[in-house]
Amino acid sequence: MTIRKAVIPAAGLGTRFLPATKSTPKEMLPVVDKPAIQYVVEEAVAAGLEDVLMITGRSKRTLADHFDSVPELESALEAKGDEKRLAEVRHSSDLANVHFVRQGQPKGLGHAVLCARHHVGDEPFAVLLGDDLIDERDPILPTMIELQQRTGGSVVALLEVDPEQVHLYGCAAVEPLEGDEDQVRITGLVEKPDPADAPSNLAVIGRYVLNPAVFAVLDETAPGRGGEIQLTDALATLADMPAEQGGGVYGVVFRGRRYDTGDRLDYLKAVVRIASDRPDLGPDLRAWLTEYVKTLP
Ligand code: G1P
Repeated sequence: MTIRKAVIPAAGLGTRFLPATKSTPKEMLPVVDKPAIQYVVEEAVAAGLEDVLMITGRSKRTLADHFDSVPELESALEAKGDEKRLAEVRHSSDLANVHFVRQGQPKGLGHAVLCARHHVGDEPFAVLLGDDLIDERDPILPTMIELQQRTGGSVVALLEVDPEQVHLYGCAAVEPLEGDEDQVRITGLVEKPDPADAPSNLAVIGRYVLNPAVFAVLDETAPGRGGEIQLTDALATLADMPAEQGGGVYGVVFRGRRYDTGDRLDYLKAVVRIASDRPDLGPDLRAWLTEYVKTLP
């Protein structure tokens, strides 16, 4: 069954970015001149997923506003003949069919995904976490979608990290899949393990293509790490289930550029790297950076 729907959990409080996120959702922080969430929606659309469901919470109204049209701004730009900005303003509202549902209670990522059950129905779907920004030049969703279609199971994106970083992520035990050394079968998953208990240094990053069987499993998944319903725990259950019941979990190892925009230092790196590569800002920024670096101790 072709995959058409993307789910973007965006109910988090953004505590790592306070005070900026006191009244602004973290997803709306600009990366150069676009809110972080727009990159994520653009990535989904580029992979053919034009039906986007955001799982939001309180104080997230600006997210809905960003993907809606703004007639007064559009007519002002039209009157000025500013076609370029008009196109940019219209782009975010024309991009995708964006829907919203509220999570209500902060019961974890697994619970957020479960809130998508009614909208998604009985078809495979993608989940994209807003903090993970995948560079558009290194797309991974198409490969994950292909693997989901081939296996019928669920697929996660994996990243090789330093063993000391594993405690920040879901961590996978894997075995090779024939044909491609960057594709694996997942035999176990642990949410944020101590380095000593980690089955590998393969971390789950925020891209998933899931069999809808995950909903029934999430419904039965007890709160795990941090007292929250963990998507990782539901995937560990699916990994042990037979294919006829929607089980089987696979991984695609990501080797491209990715930024954790929820982390302040990584956020700054993302802004500098993305701006340096842009034709409008890059030449001037790179020239300035080269001079600036010389002044550093
Ligand atoms: C979540 C998941 C974790 C995953 C991570 C990727 O954690 O629970 O398994 O590795 O996203 O970014 P969070 O970063 O929300 O704590």
